[in-house]
Amino acid sequence: MIFNFSATGNSKYVAEKLQEALGGEIVKIDDALRRKEYTYKVEDGEKVFFVFPVYFFSMPTVVEEFIEKLQLDGSPEICAVITCGSSIGGADRLFKKAFKNKTGEIKAVYKLPMVDNYILMFKAPLKEEQVMKLRRADKVLENIIDNINYNFRVSYESNIFIYLASILTNKIYKATNKTKKFYATDKCISCGLCQFHCPVAAIKMEDGKPKWTGERCAHCLACIHRCPAEAIEYGKATAKRGRYVNPIFK
Ligand SMILES: Cc1cc2nc3c(=O)[nH]c(=O)nc-3n(C[C@H](O)[C@H](O)[C@H](O)COP(=O)(O)O)c2cc1C
Ligand code: SF4
Ligand code: SF4
Repeated sequence: MIFNFSATGNSKYVAEKLQEALGGEIVKIDDALRRKEYTYKVEDGEKVFFVFPVYFFSMPTVVEEFIEKLQLDGSPEICAVITCGSSIGGADRLFKKAFKNKTGEIKAVYKLPMVDNYILMFKAPLKEEQVMKLRRADKVLENIIDNINYNFRVSYESNIFIYLASILTNKIYKATNKTKKFYATDKCISCGLCQFHCPVAAIKMEDGKPKWTGERCAHCLACIHRCPAEAIEYGKATAKRGRYVNPIFK
């Protein structure tokens, strides 16, 4: 079983590659939350994977919430592949901590640098650079799959200082994931895809235009990156930062 959350496709790509190599059903974490499906029957010793992006050196709020509510009926071997732009910080330790009182054994956490989609802070890389980074990611992913097949021989482990820093950056993530600055420009073609892709139903279409409802969201940036008209902006931060979606969505 592969639990997956992905806003711009990197982690979805990895989940599908794991499925190809090792089998198992993919469960979309945001769909499971929406449907309130928290209990899963697994065999003792079955491999269960979590594939998701790192946010602020920690887990996306949707992944955190899902693991908190999750009930695995059985005692599986658990493994996480965390995708990132460059560093997952102490997300490995936060992931392990989230499983502290749950059944199953955490066998490994892997870090997988792909393409950074955090355009609130950085420019999206140009196409050629994206292709190069994704090619490099493919090689790392091959090694990860080899490692899993060799009984999780290698695992990433952050040091304690990075972990402490990650507790702080997680607090910053949760304090700043507000919706107030999102808006759609005149380029909007009223397709409704932003509402459709939002994992936490934070967007409602009103008179053919998206409105961000509620004070906070997951800040996954799916709405910004996957808008076909590039009509969504976040304050002044995103105007010249480009957009990114993994080729899996094209
Ligand atoms: C809110 C947010 C915070 C992020 N924080 C980090 C980070 O701490 N370190 C990092 O290397 N990448 C960071 N990223 C980049 C993503 O983790 C990376 O692009 C990931 O592969 C995206 O996965 P997805 O395409 O499956 O959504 C962040 C992205 C977002 C949206
Ligand atoms: S995805 Fe873009 S074009 Fe479509 S409704 Fe949302 S803002 Fe408008
Ligand atoms: S509003 Fe946009 S950034 Fe926020 S959770 Fe929804 S899709 Fe992600």
